[in-house]
Amino acid sequence: GTWVAVLPEGEIEVDQTKEVSFTMTVKDGYQTVNHTYTVYLRRYADKIVAFDPTCTHLGCRVKYQADKSRYFCPCHGGVFDQDGKVVSGPPPRPLNHYATKIENGQVFVYREV
Ligand code: FES
Repeated sequence: GTWVAVLPEGEIEVDQTKEVSFTMTVKDGYQTVNHTYTVYLRRYADKIVAFDPTCTHLGCRVKYQADKSRYFCPCHGGVFDQDGKVVSGPPPRPLNHYATKIENGQVFVYREV
């Protein structure tokens, strides 16, 4: 896996959730291809969590609505709270998240390749 810088640390405040996209070059057989990934960063007083927007039900992509502080899944009505916990609908587990770290003023997310 690799650590990827996704956002300057100063661009996210405590209790804020922010969608960020980043591109990684992945070897695919003889070719290298660029994949774009999206994660939702949420900053807490003591840490930053990077939520994977893949619904834990059947893999649709959830969307965060800041005014409701909830993630909504368009496929079967799954709802997650701002901490990734299931609020309602069929998802069996909270949203997955990736390891993060802050270094040199940047937020890094760890991706398996
Ligand atoms: Fe998200 Fe079914 S895939 S609720």
